[in-house]
Amino acid sequence: MKMKAVCCWTETIVLILIFKISFNASFQLTERQQVCSLCGGTPLNSTPVGKFCSLSAGRIDGRCCLRNNTRDPEDIIGLDLSNCSLTHIDELHGASTVSVIDLSLNPIVNISDTTFQGFRDLNYMILPQDIVCPGGNTSWEKVEVEEGNRLCEGQKNMCNQTGELSMNCPENSLCAPYGPGFYECSCAENYRGYKCLREGDFPVPQVFGPLAASTVVISFLLWVTQRRKAKYL
Ligand SMILES: *[C@@H]1O[C@H](CO)[C@@H](O)[C@H](O)[C@H]1NC(C)=O
Ligand SMILES: *[C@@H]1O[C@H](CO)[C@@H](O)[C@H](O)[C@H]1NC(C)=O
Ligand SMILES: *[C@@H]1O[C@H](CO)[C@@H](O)[C@H](O)[C@H]1NC(C)=O
Ligand SMILES: *[C@@H]1O[C@H](CO)[C@@H](O)[C@H](O)[C@H]1NC(C)=O
Repeated sequence: MKMKAVCCWTETIVLILIFKISFNASFQLTERQQVCSLCGGTPLNSTPVGKFCSLSAGRIDGRCCLRNNTRDPEDIIGLDLSNCSLTHIDELHGASTVSVIDLSLNPIVNISDTTFQGFRDLNYMILPQDIVCPGGNTSWEKVEVEEGNRLCEGQKNMCNQTGELSMNCPENSLCAPYGPGFYECSCAENYRGYKCLREGDFPVPQVFGPLAASTVVISFLLWVTQRRKAKYL
């Protein structure tokens, strides 16, 4: 009996790993479904998101407009959460590819700036009048108040010079937009490490670090199971 129990440790670990991988794959899909069904109904053709969606030949799914492509999961390009009785917006993970968001007619109290961190393509937002545009006015080309809504139009690039060595980022790094009010620095080619100060080396720790760590963990688990097996034998 003991032997049998011991034998299955390795199989269990493998099963858990397989399960985790497939779970991660389906996770993005469920996140999308959550965002798109935050409230009932679908955007009407006459609404800003509805218009945007038919112009971009998108596909409506719940409150979302999805890019009509063969990628899985499909990208959300429009999100209409107008009149959804939302008091706060926690997270819109899975919608970071969105270009147009309508949050009008909601009793929203405040929105954290980090909600839209990483929303690089976000270019048009409709908010209740008292909510400031994420990142503030300076993060947008144009901010208007119209018919009780605040419109945030044209996300500004927070990098001084797009795709070039920038004043915002450390030397030897490139700056890229990363959502309203945010930018991202990545090391230029041949540079790496903290503040991109190291040059030329092959990035061994980044590539092999996680691999080495998981190998150590798996080896240890195997060692433990083998040791236990040996003891019972
Ligand atoms: C908002 O939703 C409520 C109930 O769901 C509906 O009665 C009302 O007409 C909607 N308002 C607008 C402007 O669509
Ligand atoms: C929203 O406002 C409430 C009270 O006004 C505050 O306690 C809370 O921290 C705010 N949340 C965010 C994300 O700013
Ligand atoms: C942002 O822009 C709006 C609309 O132009 C204006 O009403 C508001 O005062 C501005 N806010 C700040 C902090 O400049
Ligand atoms: C770039 O940044 C520098 C220093 O912060 C500033 O003086 C300059 O005006 C900026 N250029 C642009 C185009 O924003």
